Amino acid sequence: MASRLHAHIGTFRQLEILLAVYKGGSIKTATETLFLTQPTISMQLKKLTEAIGLPLYQQVGRKLKFTDAGLATVETAKKILHSCEELDMRLSSLRGLESGTLKLAVTTTAKYFTPHLLGPFRERYPGIDIQLTIANRQQVIERFEEGADDFYVFSHLPEGLDLEKIEFMSNDLVAIAEASHPLAKKKSVSLEEFCQEDFLIREVGSGTRLATESFFKMQKSKPNIKMTIASNEAIIHSVLSRLGVSILSAHTLAFGNIYNVKVINVDSLPIKTNWSFYWTKGAPLSPIAKVFLAYVETQGREMMQKAIQL
Ligand code: PGA
Repeated sequence: MASRLHAHIGTFRQLEILLAVYKGGSIKTATETLFLTQPTISMQLKKLTEAIGLPLYQQVGRKLKFTDAGLATVETAKKILHSCEELDMRLSSLRGLESGTLKLAVTTTAKYFTPHLLGPFRERYPGIDIQLTIANRQQVIERFEEGADDFYVFSHLPEGLDLEKIEFMSNDLVAIAEASHPLAKKKSVSLEEFCQEDFLIREVGSGTRLATESFFKMQKSKPNIKMTIASNEAIIHSVLSRLGVSILSAHTLAFGNIYNVKVINVDSLPIKTNWSFYWTKGAPLSPIAKVFLAYVETQGREMMQKAIQL
């Protein structure tokens, strides 16, 4: 019975090819999405048409017009391929999460805490692989738009993205100076005084920069920007070299504070921001991603508290 049905509807690969041609509107477009040549696609579609026993489409000018038999096959192909994806996920689940890849993209400020979250998780599921991408906020959002990863961590929710989130942790941005800098020795510093110092700022696209700029705008003051530096660590080293002062996430200093950098007590600072874990609304999560999400929700914050005290 199964083989007769199979003979009628063609192979999975043929159904995949048919769907790609249907979605792309032409064989030529399908060559690009499937990385197959035009003759290969035509040959597979011919075989599929023979198996079905009815024409699936007609060539009308440059376009393909699907017949009723073609449309019915497309509908069934979608269901079959969707069921296969579901089966794949259920099987991975039944395999007890022995394998699988968890993909995360986090901002350069969130990179300090993320490994502390991943350590205990990986200990529990040693068979899994983890791909951790570190980038600035704008680049992480671009990855979100491409659907490149399972989860994304950044601050300040952008508008117009269809996402779900767990607010995870506060991310205070603090003013810093080299320990022997005159401002570092003062009990409190006015914003005007701070703005007279040479200021080092993160690159465009950085969430730290975005928050810093909107802070100064709200305060109706302007920092004396002297250098743009696309790295938290390079900013810290520049502060140490007395190239200027800066505002950075307190987390850049929190883990293993080996730097001779001091947080200065400037009026109206710190800037309060929050990190969240984001994922695409309604997106099917892989078994390992589901387990990771539950872990972040139930134990994530506690793990972080422990890590911060390290
Ligand atoms: P970033 O991080 O400055 O590396 O972009 C800030 C954020 O988490 O949004």
